[in-house]
Amino acid sequence: MTEGLARVRAALTSAEQSSHDAGWTMPSAFYTDPDFHALELEHLFAREWHCVGRVEEIAQSGQWFPYRLLNEPLVITHGTDGTIRALSNVCRHRGTLIATEKGKGRRLLCPYHHWAYDLTGQLKAAPKIEERPGFAVKDCKLPSFPCEVWMGFIYVNLDQDAKLFAPQVADLEAMIGPYHMEDMWLGYTGEAVWETNWKSMIENYMEGYHLSPLHKTGLANLNPTDMCEHLEPQENWFGYSVGFPEDLPRVTAGDPGLTKHQSNTCIMAMIHPGNGIGLAADYSSYLCIQPEGTNKVRYKAGILFWGDAWPQSAVDRAVELFHQTMEEDRSVLEPMMIGYQSAHHAPGPIAPAPLEGTILDLAKYAARRLGPVIDAEA
Ligand code: FES
Ligand SMILES: [Fe+2]
Repeated sequence: MTEGLARVRAALTSAEQSSHDAGWTMPSAFYTDPDFHALELEHLFAREWHCVGRVEEIAQSGQWFPYRLLNEPLVITHGTDGTIRALSNVCRHRGTLIATEKGKGRRLLCPYHHWAYDLTGQLKAAPKIEERPGFAVKDCKLPSFPCEVWMGFIYVNLDQDAKLFAPQVADLEAMIGPYHMEDMWLGYTGEAVWETNWKSMIENYMEGYHLSPLHKTGLANLNPTDMCEHLEPQENWFGYSVGFPEDLPRVTAGDPGLTKHQSNTCIMAMIHPGNGIGLAADYSSYLCIQPEGTNKVRYKAGILFWGDAWPQSAVDRAVELFHQTMEEDRSVLEPMMIGYQSAHHAPGPIAPAPLEGTILDLAKYAARRLGPVIDAEA
């Protein structure tokens, strides 16, 4: 076993055994070691479900959008049969990418030599080589991947043998179902690449300790650190909740079926490995996070709004606050990667469970899924 992997393994073992009031942060190797990252890619990202966006992005049949999931270029289509599919976006002719942007039509047309596919991935036309011996258009199809829609989100798994997604998050659905995210409307989407580790981004998204200090002029007015509570971590997700101050003006209380407590509580959930949901009755945000190496992370984000009481100015304010929050987060997460290179970086104590228990939850998840894999490598 390499020295880096050995350090990560020892820290995972400690995390596994640690209680939430005695946890320590992970050593830098957890975020920087290339061998450990290779195991994350192979044993987490290549096997788990990933959110790739929202159904509203392809609300009508005939629509599609491209999405790169790790090294797999995908095109997500809404077929004329109403089914949403995740297809390989790699042309079966010479391999260029077929869809380069969001589109609509009966056919996906490869820009190179105009091979045409229907929205199930079936090749329909291959100009001038349709009669070629040894090749039949009808036998040529774009590979497809397991794909499910849940709460209005689209999930894809690169593993053809993946177990169904929805049953794996039934416990989360029981908690957040009453907010009816599937009925919220998409008011913003964006994508970005940050120079940080994917787990650092997740830890940040999932802890409330930093809300009041880092986001003191913005998000902390809505969700202050003192109102955080830790949620019991589950097999496939973990999270915390944070209240809204009683006197905070809100555009809507959300679904009429919500209790006052539900209306006044934001639920932060992370579905492993990288789908973060910041759910609230009035509006919610989400992140679809994927690594691009140990020190780079790509994400797609969106903001969802409940109901029709939203003036454009209130939507704009929500989007602005989202940008401010993300910029403030980036301002600490990118320098953190410099900190991890230091010979003087050392694990520190984590704050009490309501504030930073989720830091330990992520480490315990890594220990559960990757500890045995590291042991098998040894
Ligand atoms: S590469 Fe797509 S048609 Fe030739
Ligand atoms: Fe933050």
